[in-house]
Amino acid sequence: MNLAVNNSSEKLYTNVYADAESASKKVAQDIADLIRSKAEKGENAVLGLATGSSPLKVYAELVRMHKEEGLSFKNVITFNLDEYYPMDPSSEHSYVYFMKKNLFDHVDINMENVNIPSGTIRRKEIEEYCATYEAKIKLHGGVDLQLLGIGRTGHIGFNEPPSNEKTLTRMVTLDPITRKDAAPGFGGLENVPTEAVTMGVGSILNAKKVIMMAWGESKAAIVNEMMNGEVSGQVPATYLQLHNNVAVFLDEGAAKELKTETLV
Ligand code: F6R
Repeated sequence: MNLAVNNSSEKLYTNVYADAESASKKVAQDIADLIRSKAEKGENAVLGLATGSSPLKVYAELVRMHKEEGLSFKNVITFNLDEYYPMDPSSEHSYVYFMKKNLFDHVDINMENVNIPSGTIRRKEIEEYCATYEAKIKLHGGVDLQLLGIGRTGHIGFNEPPSNEKTLTRMVTLDPITRKDAAPGFGGLENVPTEAVTMGVGSILNAKKVIMMAWGESKAAIVNEMMNGEVSGQVPATYLQLHNNVAVFLDEGAAKELKTETLV
């Protein structure tokens, strides 16, 4: 049964599914369609990727499509949103480790086409490093499709409140709520880095298409803010309301606080 509903009464184009699994399959299908249509034209697909729990089922489905349906990643270039700082790429807490474990190690992507902000750059070189990351995205013609999750602070990437719509890739300080949410994975709050390197809100808004995913009731309040709240740096995800090609994928739990009837 497909409970997907396109809810035009919210400020953002919304798809509500019965569960994260069916929604993630649709997101993976959209990504596969993009990769294949670009390949047919002899072009690269430039993907902006997120970590965390939200995209896990999408990555699992992409791996399945590679193994069972021959989906090739040879023409895929990726830019990840963020990385903790400092962070050794070989650490199991790094987003490099996460991406390899959940996607890159299982598909035929050329690792030279993979870009993840570095958590090992010397502090005084970070500004230049971030400018180079932005320039590389531009060099590849910009991000075709940006995947996003949302943090309980309303962050996208690690753009914590307050973050304005012009921000580009840079070093940021993590919000205490974000660090608390990450604590179990790090074996305690004291082990969670206090800083990160992240693509900015402006970098995200530059993407040609954005897919935002949120699963579970714990996201319901912030999803409602993102969709119906005033556009403000206090909830950076509200800036998505300014983008003309955003699709929000929710499960029933995450859609719970939306004002309108979303499931039929
Ligand atoms: C991850 C990222 C974050 C997460 C957000 C939601 O690369 O940039 O913005 O998308 O914190 O995390 P999960 O999906 O774990 O709820």
